[in-house]
Amino acid sequence: MSTLIKNGRIITADADYVADIFIEGERIVAIGEKLNVVADKIIDATGKLVMPGGIDPHVHLDMPFMGTYSSDSYETGTRAALYGGTTTVIDFILQQQGNSLQSALDEWRGRANGNAVGDYSFHMAVTDFNENTKKEIQSIIEKEGITSFKTFMAYKGALMIDDAQMVGLMAEVKKHGGLINVHATNGDMIDSLVQKHREEGKLAPLYHYLSQPEITETEASERFVNMANETGCPGYIVHMTCEGALNAVRNATKRNQKVFVETCIQYLILDASLYENDFEGAKWVMSPPLREKKDQATLWAGINQGLVQVVATDHCPFMWEQKLMGKNDFSKIPNGHPAIENRMELLFSEGVMKNKISLNKYVEVSSTNAAKIFGMFPAKGTIAVGSDADIVIMDPNEKHILSASKHHMNVDYSGYEGWEITGKVKTVLLRGKLAIDNNQCYVEKGYGKFIKRKKVTQNI
Ligand code: URP
Ligand code: ZN
Ligand code: ZN
Repeated sequence: MSTLIKNGRIITADADYVADIFIEGERIVAIGEKLNVVADKIIDATGKLVMPGGIDPHVHLDMPFMGTYSSDSYETGTRAALYGGTTTVIDFILQQQGNSLQSALDEWRGRANGNAVGDYSFHMAVTDFNENTKKEIQSIIEKEGITSFKTFMAYKGALMIDDAQMVGLMAEVKKHGGLINVHATNGDMIDSLVQKHREEGKLAPLYHYLSQPEITETEASERFVNMANETGCPGYIVHMTCEGALNAVRNATKRNQKVFVETCIQYLILDASLYENDFEGAKWVMSPPLREKKDQATLWAGINQGLVQVVATDHCPFMWEQKLMGKNDFSKIPNGHPAIENRMELLFSEGVMKNKISLNKYVEVSSTNAAKIFGMFPAKGTIAVGSDADIVIMDPNEKHILSASKHHMNVDYSGYEGWEITGKVKTVLLRGKLAIDNNQCYVEKGYGKFIKRKKVTQNI
């Protein structure tokens, strides 16, 4: 099967030009002006943007969490991702404390294998670092192609590890060429504020936000950065929300340290005033919580300063009925918000169309940098001869409205209901195959492939 995409405006992290793209099988085989080739299928991309498929390196599909499961399966979640222009996602395996990493990997494979519509990979969350876990790290990296290890500095009793475990894990991961991802918030401080608010009868979603003040994230980010510096292990802070935490990374650059930073689309465009709407605020109960306008400004600036390399989602959807588990106690509301389908269009509309970031920066933070940091580049994350033909064709001028009534995520509300967006994903190719065209999905579950990743380099 061959496809010719004609006359599109090709945008990569460092180029912007009009040309044709010729695809044979799963790969791009030629790029040039007015290519003289015979193709089975021709797509006219005149007037459209042609970009690398989005990569969302922070999603939670079908994940057991807070007494329930996130509501998107691998099938519904990766399909919704494709509708929104994201062709590859990285999900988090959670080790169960007391059990091995391998048993967690087997469990997650059982949920993902044969079900994914789009491509996917895994990070391995280490929730119990001990002598047995330590022995598994090398083969998880070298045999399984899982090169990033997630750690939690919060969620005590289920996911959190202490600093001794963190530095032990860092040393082992560094030795074998991996990277540590971190949820950097101070779990003990948060737990004591949660307890205080509950004792005072302050039980509305607003108190989720007030239990996780900026300092809880700043302190943990500083501590993580220091431990990464001491051990020399590459570090990546997930879902960063605020000025204090970004300044911890900025300060580390003064001693020539580099720590990668991911923010999520919601932290750039939503703020904490949403928690003032009584239980409605449960839609945005996530950890860390939404912050202030000044933090949004810091994060946009951080993207343009190269301090923030990735815009992800932390997609972790729950049905409204699941959110109601916390109707009478904010600490029981399952944490998370749906965005896997919306990230690429929201970032384009709010970022590029409002002149906050350039088109090249858009591609960099929505695709290329994640591919580089997580060892998938140049197969993923760019448009080049030899790369996978993961391609998004976007109409930059088409306006449309986001709504739960139209989206494909398995969740019965939208965090962006009624938002008018400029820029619409029209066509998506995944490894050369037409996946999405004019609001129709053409690939079946099982087409999505597990992506084994290469070892990590600290320079991108
Ligand atoms: O609220 C969130 N973020 N839910 C998913 C788990 C996590 O901490 O990433
Ligand atoms: Zn987290
Ligand atoms: Zn997460």
